[in-house]
Amino acid sequence: MKRVSLTQYLVEEQRLYNNIPAELRLLIEVVARSCKTISHAVGKGALGEVLGSAGSENVQGEVQKKLDIISNEMLLEANEWGGHLAAMASEEMEGIHPIPNRYPKGEYLLLFDPLDGSSNIDVNVSIGTIFSVLKAPDGMAEPTEKDFLQCGAKQVAAGYAVYGPQTVLVLTTGNGVNCFTLDREMGSWVLTQRDMKIPAETKEFAINASNARHWYPPVKRYVDEMLAGETGVRQKNFNMRWIASMVADVHRILNRGGIFMYPADAREPDKPGKLRLMYEANPMAFIVEQAGGAATNGKQRILDVQPQKLHERVAVFLGSRSEVERVTSYHAE
Ligand code: AHG
Ligand code: MN
Ligand code: MN
Repeated sequence: MKRVSLTQYLVEEQRLYNNIPAELRLLIEVVARSCKTISHAVGKGALGEVLGSAGSENVQGEVQKKLDIISNEMLLEANEWGGHLAAMASEEMEGIHPIPNRYPKGEYLLLFDPLDGSSNIDVNVSIGTIFSVLKAPDGMAEPTEKDFLQCGAKQVAAGYAVYGPQTVLVLTTGNGVNCFTLDREMGSWVLTQRDMKIPAETKEFAINASNARHWYPPVKRYVDEMLAGETGVRQKNFNMRWIASMVADVHRILNRGGIFMYPADAREPDKPGKLRLMYEANPMAFIVEQAGGAATNGKQRILDVQPQKLHERVAVFLGSRSEVERVTSYHAE
């Protein structure tokens, strides 16, 4: 098999479609390199003293794990000096992180969830990194939070890494979705799946069922109908999976179909779901759409949601198109 590296893929993609200029390629390669470093730290586990709590809280009031902070630092450090970015933003930082004045500034904005699936770190279950790339608005002077508040449809690239039995990187620049596997001996990313497509039909769903008693009627109806199986209105049996790492759940869906849901619920009526729009839902929605699937918040396409603030939350329904359309239509009724 002829091996295509991430660099070769990016260069050839630029040659063919003129959609990955050199600065964006550098950005993607630096993020990929950070994911390699994070993967290495994750793989050390207890031996690298990276497990456990850091004893602090992030802006969302969540307890930070050591790896949340380590991964955030790795991404910040790696991306500061290259000249490709104007600023960064992260789940683990309240405000944005402008590129320090000692470095040249570029035209891109990078957002990330440095470590997704934190509750799985200490139990050796798949976790990952999610990232989203935007262009800085024309004429931007000093970057502010407002410059980041662009809808997901404006993303120029998005991706995620999964640190699992294998470390993989899934990437889109708006021209389909490709998967790269980390060759741990060589330290390089090798293209292993071209143009991933989510199967249109599915018999699998993912939702945290412990919240069932709080669900709103459209979600309850949709899940009940699946649970009713062959003898119910859906006339088929469904299977359920919930990894509690969005990266791993989305990666399964990209490979064999399914729907992933994190709805808003009646516990906190003012909270529009758990997941964050700008560095969880948007990049995943971009990838899922590029793979032929769909992503909504129950009412509208996630990529069309105009963010009001950096750490805004959003309800998420994503995956196989027909299922996402069905649950979205229940919200309209
Ligand atoms: P994070 O670790 O970045 O805070 O994200 C965790 C998210 C997501 O990855 C996952 O799907 C979901 O939270 C799990 O939520 P539950 O704890 O309700 O299962
Ligand atoms: Mn997350
Ligand atoms: Mn996280």
